[in-house]
Amino acid sequence: MNNIRGRFNKAAAESVLAYTASVQYDWMLYPYDIAGSIAHARMLGKQGIITPVEAKKIIAALQQIQAEISSGKFVFNPELEDIHMNIEARLVEKIGDTGKKLHTARSRNDQVALDVRLFVRDAIAHSIVGMRHLQQAIVDVATAHKDVVLPGYTHVQRAQPVLLAHHLLAYFEMLERDIARFEDVFTRADVLPLGSGALAGVAYNIDRESVAKELGFSTVSKNSIDAVSDRDFILEYQAAAAIFMMHISRMAEELVYWSSAEFDFIELDDAYATGSSIMPQKKNPDVAELARGKTGRVYGNLMSLLTTMKGLPLAYNRDMQEDKEQVFDTVKTIFGTLEVFPGMLSTMKIKTASMKKAAEKGYLLATDIADYLVKNGESFRAAHEITGKLVNYAVGKGKSLDALKLAEYKKFSPKFKQDVLKISVESSLAARDNTGGTARVQVKKQLAAAAVKVKKALAEVR
Ligand code: ARG
Repeated sequence: MNNIRGRFNKAAAESVLAYTASVQYDWMLYPYDIAGSIAHARMLGKQGIITPVEAKKIIAALQQIQAEISSGKFVFNPELEDIHMNIEARLVEKIGDTGKKLHTARSRNDQVALDVRLFVRDAIAHSIVGMRHLQQAIVDVATAHKDVVLPGYTHVQRAQPVLLAHHLLAYFEMLERDIARFEDVFTRADVLPLGSGALAGVAYNIDRESVAKELGFSTVSKNSIDAVSDRDFILEYQAAAAIFMMHISRMAEELVYWSSAEFDFIELDDAYATGSSIMPQKKNPDVAELARGKTGRVYGNLMSLLTTMKGLPLAYNRDMQEDKEQVFDTVKTIFGTLEVFPGMLSTMKIKTASMKKAAEKGYLLATDIADYLVKNGESFRAAHEITGKLVNYAVGKGKSLDALKLAEYKKFSPKFKQDVLKISVESSLAARDNTGGTARVQVKKQLAAAAVKVKKALAEVR
């Protein structure tokens, strides 16, 4: 039975227990809860708040409890509300009254803040590794298809030819920013709240710095009231995760329509596609669709916590227990997405011929023709208009631009000379020879830099 009900005359109602219990999900925090308790107990022993022998006993029992939980032997009791009380109750069961000393100079308010910070720190580190693997897959696909050209689009209309590697590296850049955001969130999660007590600090001679050191925190919180009621680091994680999923959803969308018969740019590997229960011919891009769909729940998780936190007075309020299920869900969604995406990308077949055909058809070189006129003395706006009329003429004739004769060009401007006929997809690419442009030399440089960056980053985590 619950040992924190001394003040009460009766047990909590059954429905209240069910409503308030969180152990059915916060059990996931157990490795962090135990690591935090071990560091706390060690510090209490060193400071003489409990005896070193008591500290040793507590630590040994906590280690056994950790093993009991990870091996699935531990029986969680919802009557004990949360993971913290479940572990503490088991500790007392194992070592008796000594176990009751662990909670000296601590409150569940700073304890839970600590656990979630440890959890989020790990989640960030793990997410970043996953994103690096995704970047690696992008670099691999780009490298294996470094010569491939496809139409670049604006408004989903064919715009200008680009290299596939250039297109893919756009996602590499998004992931660079995602990683930077996660690293930034890490610095805010990396603060030890333990020692804040319920809200006002604790009335014992504790050593917060040693606890911070043992748990790998860079710093300790400077205001106990803030420390027990701050969930910004979760919000920031959720926000960074939402932006990451937005990026994933954009890539997913492209994979979905690129694999349609209308586009026919890629074919997903059988291992990463699913069938239809009624239409035998179907091969569906469900992984990409689900990633696109799961973006919604991650956005929702951010909104959920923002709403929970809105208007909460200082300091801890039980509302904050509602921070957990969503952050667990976001972490699970992100990990799952990062688990499946690299493999989906690296196994998909790129239909290079069909990309090339699309890049050559249509009027993708119109800008190059306008640029040609500019280089021959026309102003850009005039060149734009002349070329627009030329395209209109070609459309009317049902011809592509490269099918036009020089005489036809000349009808629109005397500045057109023989060499206008040399404008091609290749000349269009080559012309865009500035940093960040799609010229082969530029993309080669960016791809090489990306490959080095991701290789170095992954070597560091190994
Ligand atoms: N399960 C609670 C939570 O997640 C732990 C803190 C409870 N503190 C309290 N004073 N009831 O927020």
